[in-house]
Amino acid sequence: MVNYKDLGLVNTREMFKRAVAGGYAIPAFNFNTMEQMQAIVMAAVETKSPVIMQVSRGARKYANPTILRYMAEGAVAYAKELGCANPEIVLHLDHGDSFETCKDCIDTGFSSVMFDGSSLPYEENIAITKKVVDYAHQFDVTVEAELGVLAGVEDEVASEESHYTKPEEVIDFATRTGCDSLAISIGTSHGAYKFTPEQCTRDPKTGKLVPPPLAFDILHEIEKKLPGFPIVLHGSSSVPQDCVDTINEFGGKLPDAVGIPEEQLREASKSAVCKINIDSDSRLAMTAAIRKYLAENPGHFDPRQYLTPARDAMKQMYIHKIVDVLGSDGKLAK
Ligand code: G3H
Ligand code: 13P
Ligand code: ZN
Repeated sequence: MVNYKDLGLVNTREMFKRAVAGGYAIPAFNFNTMEQMQAIVMAAVETKSPVIMQVSRGARKYANPTILRYMAEGAVAYAKELGCANPEIVLHLDHGDSFETCKDCIDTGFSSVMFDGSSLPYEENIAITKKVVDYAHQFDVTVEAELGVLAGVEDEVASEESHYTKPEEVIDFATRTGCDSLAISIGTSHGAYKFTPEQCTRDPKTGKLVPPPLAFDILHEIEKKLPGFPIVLHGSSSVPQDCVDTINEFGGKLPDAVGIPEEQLREASKSAVCKINIDSDSRLAMTAAIRKYLAENPGHFDPRQYLTPARDAMKQMYIHKIVDVLGSDGKLAK
């Protein structure tokens, strides 16, 4: 049994309270590799931002759960080495699929877990979420729950269809589960193909897809039902078109990849939305930099050569999200 406090990590409670009151959102960046971890920490330290480093089940399978936990402990030490005396880093389980996965993470040093029961019948979602909350709260670990279904297909998270969160259910759900934050479905979606071309219009000048707007009316109804309660948005990558274009220019094939416009995420950050999940944009920044580097340097084969610009590109992307989209820069407690 390892408690996250012994690793120098923090849970989400205080940072969410400050984010909701201050009208900004905390970035939740997924990581699978050392370069992603380094880029996240460098960006958070440079901008003086609290940060959530999240690990999916796919990441645990890829990198090994023990290694990821030590990487998070290493992230705290690295942030201090970079000059941040009191970093606020959360190690969060993303899309936990069962009580057992959540318990395993809580027992091995995670400071926050998500139980994703969004595809379960309502009462079953409540029952398992409550079981996770009852266990997690004994160790002061915070719990994210989900109501409503996001569309989009990832390795470990897949749904063909989305169902918006029903505002009339949120009070009952939050009260009966005791969850600390709630992920809702208002039109965001996982992956780099968030909308089909049929769901979008096309910009006549660029030929690029323009996605439909998020359902802010549902978000505002939920805020009214649960004043001040921390709300989470998954599937919030913007799928930067410069990265998509670079990937396509250097041998990739990502036709019609489209994300959530950053202005809408900026607007959401000012509301009770206090955690915004971004994974695909990091994958795109990394892949674009690697493809470009290898195309321009065909004789190079040392991974450090192409992973250096990849790490720099991710760091710049994280800084941009923190400063220009979520507004969490300068928001460390001390
Ligand atoms: O929401 C899902 C995250 O992007 C994680 O994706 O399961 O492919 O690691 P993954
Ligand atoms: P994106 O695929 O939009 O980056 O979403 C990530 C996410 O929601 C992780 O839980
Ligand atoms: Zn997600």
